[in-house]
Amino acid sequence: MRPVHVLPSLLSADFTRLGAEVSACAAAGARMLHVDVMDGHFVPNITVGPFIVAHLRRATSLHLDVHLMITDAQKYIGDFRAAGADAITIHVEAVGQRQLAQAIAQVRASGAAVGLAFNPDTDPELWLWALPQVDLVMFMTVYPGFGGQAFIPSVRPRIRVVRKAFPLLPIQVDGGINRETIPLVTADGADRLVCGNAYFTDADPAGFLRWAESHHAS
Ligand code: DX5
Ligand code: ZN
Repeated sequence: MRPVHVLPSLLSADFTRLGAEVSACAAAGARMLHVDVMDGHFVPNITVGPFIVAHLRRATSLHLDVHLMITDAQKYIGDFRAAGADAITIHVEAVGQRQLAQAIAQVRASGAAVGLAFNPDTDPELWLWALPQVDLVMFMTVYPGFGGQAFIPSVRPRIRVVRKAFPLLPIQVDGGINRETIPLVTADGADRLVCGNAYFTDADPAGFLRWAESHHAS
């Protein structure tokens, strides 16, 4: 049984008052924040770059978990680390089998923790070889690009496969994680929950966070 942590996803925050939102996350008990980077190419949306990560870094000492939904991830790893990312998660679909070991090594050499993300239709079995080299694996439980989408249940057996093969590896889930789906994904073995809408629209985000973290991952 592993403790569970919530990462508020800033994609659902009010960007006109980002500093205050970040402080509120810390006051609510969050220890990590999730930052979604989109390039309009790997996903059909555009969000923030290293510039905003650098401003977040000045605003908080919380762990900054940067999710790169960008085609040319390797080109920007150094920039995001220099901006203050504590963890950098790259998509296996963006990097590809041939470049993956090199990309992982590049994140590692930057000093950031290394995350690998899988889209909902990607079979993790083809990538199990890489998991001993990383610090966390992240399952997209929606098609990446936007907050507020519905959870895709067909990802659940894939979470269980990876949890069984890697009992100690942090497993993060991202997309449609809320009061309904948290009992399901934690039972499957996920111990890190990225929550955008569910966290930021809750009338009592601190209460939501406490409730979510009262679960344990199998
Ligand atoms: C979607 C992003 C998510 C997003 C999740 O592509 O990767 O981090 O913020 O939002 P919710 O929790 O609202 O599904
Ligand atoms: Zn994300």
